[in-house]
Amino acid sequence: MTSLVASYPAGSAAFPHRGLVGIAGLAPHEILFLLDEAEQWVKLNRLPQKHDNRLAGLTIINAFFENSTRTLLSFEIAGKRLGADVVNMQTAQSSIKKGETLIDTAMTLNAMHADAIVIRHGSSGAVQLIADKVSCPVLNAGDGQHEHPTQALLDALTIRHAKKDFNGLKVTICGDILHSRVARSNVLCLTSLGAEVRLCAPPALMPAEIEQMKVTPFLDFDAALEDADVVMMLRLQMERMQGQFIPSPREYHHLYGLTPERLAKAKPDALVMHPGPMNRGVEIDSNVADMADRSLITRQVEMGVAIRMACLDVLTRKVRGAEGWT
Ligand code: CP
Repeated sequence: MTSLVASYPAGSAAFPHRGLVGIAGLAPHEILFLLDEAEQWVKLNRLPQKHDNRLAGLTIINAFFENSTRTLLSFEIAGKRLGADVVNMQTAQSSIKKGETLIDTAMTLNAMHADAIVIRHGSSGAVQLIADKVSCPVLNAGDGQHEHPTQALLDALTIRHAKKDFNGLKVTICGDILHSRVARSNVLCLTSLGAEVRLCAPPALMPAEIEQMKVTPFLDFDAALEDADVVMMLRLQMERMQGQFIPSPREYHHLYGLTPERLAKAKPDALVMHPGPMNRGVEIDSNVADMADRSLITRQVEMGVAIRMACLDVLTRKVRGAEGWT
């Protein structure tokens, strides 16, 4: 297995960052450190009693300005399992609706002495803007088309559990690459760990900067699947599309939908992933998504809680005066 207890530096030098805005800027050993830290939480979460009180007395604010099921709930569960007071800001009923700026909102949360703020926002760069204004760690729960770092970390943890090693692993990511912060963070994370990443999308949904990414681009899904160890499917992000990017969902499914016949073009033991939410019958068929022996989709959700516990624990160690982190 790629590093359980990699050779990372001791104490706070193992993860010297104040927050987690993106995978960009993280060294491979820092990514592995977070994955290794998450292993204890995978074990704890499988026990009937799932509590560890190390964040007792700390306040974590989840401020989600975009819809979420998995990320919001798993951050809330993660904070509560670690004993923190977790507050979910009701952004639809917040003073943002009265015209308050994002920066004034951030300053308000800061004045309440939050010990960590988790933010999802529709604008790329919004999380960095807030991180620059507040004194506590900020965790990016997805900002526009930019990054979704905890998704990439949970995906890496899921892959590591199933495949042990990242080196030379062929990962095909297919779907709406252009609008996908999940794809962006996964490319950075998986290539940093030694995997070979292929990105597949129709021409209109392939980002212009593909040439600068350390990936192989494909327009033909069948070719992108050849010899793949992992197939990660992404949904069409209609909410970020202005204009017509695909002829129709039916046509899209015909060319880019993952069916059992298509999956047969990958390695016989290739595994299927999807960050969710899924649009069954568009990018993925139900009889692939629900394959008991090949689909990791519910496992990804499980790993999401463990990764978010690891991130909250590591990033609040300084606040808590944990040994080696002051
Ligand atoms: N994968 C993901 O970010 O899902 P949610 O939008 O439900 O949080």
